[in-house]
Amino acid sequence: MASIAHGPDQGDQETAATTENSTTTRSPKPPRRGKVRRDRVSTHEGFLTHKNGRWMKISALLAAGLIALYIFVPLPGQHFGSSWLGYTLGTVGALLILWLTMLGMRKRAITPGRWSLKAWTSAHVYLGLTLIVVGTLHSGFNFAWNVHTLAWALMMVVIISGIFGIWVYATLPQALSANRYDEDGAITEKQMIESLRSLDRQIHDAAQPLDPQSAALVEQSLDEDPFAGNFINRITGRYPRCATRHAAGELRKARAYRPRVADDPVDKIDALLTRKEAMLGRMRRHLKLKSWLQAWLYVHVPVTFALIAALSAHIVSVFFYW
Ligand code: HEM
Repeated sequence: MASIAHGPDQGDQETAATTENSTTTRSPKPPRRGKVRRDRVSTHEGFLTHKNGRWMKISALLAAGLIALYIFVPLPGQHFGSSWLGYTLGTVGALLILWLTMLGMRKRAITPGRWSLKAWTSAHVYLGLTLIVVGTLHSGFNFAWNVHTLAWALMMVVIISGIFGIWVYATLPQALSANRYDEDGAITEKQMIESLRSLDRQIHDAAQPLDPQSAALVEQSLDEDPFAGNFINRITGRYPRCATRHAAGELRKARAYRPRVADDPVDKIDALLTRKEAMLGRMRRHLKLKSWLQAWLYVHVPVTFALIAALSAHIVSVFFYW
């Protein structure tokens, strides 16, 4: 299984994927003389393998024990949920869901020690997976179009989105890092923006001798906000109305019908627009990867609250109308 790095005890805004160990962009420069190195010693242990997979083992044992109880303890076939094992599984499941939800608060509090954020996240992932067994056995496999099955389905949506989140955290930080590197080393998001600004300045100066029609095309590229774009553009990394690509394409077409001359300003503009297109592509890939790192939480968290609402309705309806 992929090992996902997670620094201990981070506070606000930190996610399991954005800790210092998982998305390192540092270029391997020697420390400057007279400067104190501030790198922290890290064990590079991910939350999936935290303490030798302690929570994986506990969760697997719990799941195996519950499956054995379900198979070997004689219980009524009908309304399994209201048998002693059904109640036990229901109570454990509901408490587990409330505890899993508390990770949202835990992520925003800094509490060092045994219950580090890494330990919480590890327990969250494995106990969250055990909930598939707890919730499904509690249902006694009685699925229908009702609020009880709705609660189970919402639980599964939260769990599946969590599994997707693990995959995202395991793969995207490396892709983010790779996108930042080129032959000159790593480049940060800020440097990408600065590089675009510098290219814009050069394009502006080089465009002075152009005819009004070509200058208008170049102006469209200069006016383009590199951060503009809707959710779909961001998540797919596709910007079909990119002004820079349009300007570069139109200028190339126009130049193809003109006789070649020495020191044509269009040649210089073309080279600069090509560099800008490449930098924009890099920046957009960067933004796309960053969005995917968070996008799954837009399912995981809101559906958690829908689950708590359906769970409350399920519990109330069972006690009052069963
Ligand atoms: C019904 C079960 C579950 C509930 C109610 C639940 C709920 C939550 C909540 C409320 C958060 C906090 C999000 C935030 O505030 O940013 C969270 C985070 C997280 N969940 Fe779950 N979760 C469940 C199951 C799972 C499962 C099964 C997995 C993985 C297999 C998982 C993986 C994660 C991860 C990795 C985070 C941490 C995100 C981060 O560090 O930014 N969850 N979950």
